[in-house]
Amino acid sequence: MTSYDLLLRNGRLLHRNGTIAPVDIAVQGGAIAEISPHIPALAQQELDLQGQLVSPPFVESHIHLDSALTAGQPRWNQSGTLFEGIEIWRERKQNLSLEDVKSRALETLKQQAMQGVLFVRSHVDVSEAKLVALQALLEVREAVKNWMTLQIVAFPQDGIYGGDKNESLMEEAIARGVDVIGGIPHYELTREDGVKSVHRIFEWAEQHDRLIDIHCDEIDDDHSRFLEVMTACALRTDLGSRVTASHTTAFGSYNNAYAYKLLGFLQRTQINFVCNPLINITLQGRTDTYPKRRGLTRVKELWQQGMNVSLGHDCILDPWYSLGTGNMLDVAAMLVHVGQMTGSAEIDACYNMVTWQGAKTLHLEEQYGIAVGKPANLIVLDASDRFDALRRRAPVRYVVSRGKVLASTEVPSPQWYGEQP
Ligand code: FE2
Repeated sequence: MTSYDLLLRNGRLLHRNGTIAPVDIAVQGGAIAEISPHIPALAQQELDLQGQLVSPPFVESHIHLDSALTAGQPRWNQSGTLFEGIEIWRERKQNLSLEDVKSRALETLKQQAMQGVLFVRSHVDVSEAKLVALQALLEVREAVKNWMTLQIVAFPQDGIYGGDKNESLMEEAIARGVDVIGGIPHYELTREDGVKSVHRIFEWAEQHDRLIDIHCDEIDDDHSRFLEVMTACALRTDLGSRVTASHTTAFGSYNNAYAYKLLGFLQRTQINFVCNPLINITLQGRTDTYPKRRGLTRVKELWQQGMNVSLGHDCILDPWYSLGTGNMLDVAAMLVHVGQMTGSAEIDACYNMVTWQGAKTLHLEEQYGIAVGKPANLIVLDASDRFDALRRRAPVRYVVSRGKVLASTEVPSPQWYGEQP
């Protein structure tokens, strides 16, 4: 009789379209070897999933690991604004050391992995002259590669043209091997610098064969219109689905005439969008009195138009967001509320935004998903379906990474001692 490394019995396998099938899953040599309603085989390790939901892992499309776990250092962000956050980080990053960044990044990644996240895209601030954070994250990417796929984005927090050395620091970061080239056009000193920065990023990406992920229009200013520049650059290059626009919160403030024109242009591209609902519902709208804007991009409309949207935590315990746990179901649930995506198909779509659609943003589709021959990366949720997982922020019972059980969580079992209702 065949003997596998790992056999998962009695699971219910979730497919991208929401269908669920009863399965056994066999793993051999780190890859999925067999999926069938019943596998008559032995294994070195066998787990009875008792009908729990088997899903591909969560994908964290946007986080800043270099600043994670620094909330309150050197001081708390009292105004709650993006710009006070940038000022606080400018002070904190003067004291970065390799060990400081690495230990916080590793701890954050471990917390994420225990909650079912096995693919992470992290931005790293490369406006700091010694590039300490970059070096730390490059070392972390190597250190975690056996259990976590980490993509690194060169992120010029202070603008590519905001300081004399920033452009050359970006080039140094590209030379050292970042996966993705980032930007922040709405924080460049002038609109012209912002436009120039987007063009420069596309040139670098073509020249060095890298992905693009730009912090774009993360401001309530309805005149912040760098997404149209990204759209034009995407249309004029072959980069298409290799391009991601993160945040784009100004899109939520544009007048409808402009927004619908832009949506039409966007449909001709394959740009990915990343929305960060936890942080943008708290950061944006701070200069409004009432009515107060929600400060999110137009997720529902983008999704309805067939654009790829995925989600990020953005920050965990840092100068911009002093909360956060790394749980992607929290992120998706916040979008359900703030994006008013409460229709049943919309709630299911929000689940897909932290799984399959995240994999599309990260350009990982070849290695992502549960199918024979693919790397054995999967999670087991104590949930009946996507809606149930999201509503209850269902615990992740098991995390399997590269064919091995990486983490497990006991499901809470509350007891009732009162009268029977
Ligand atoms: Fe960000």
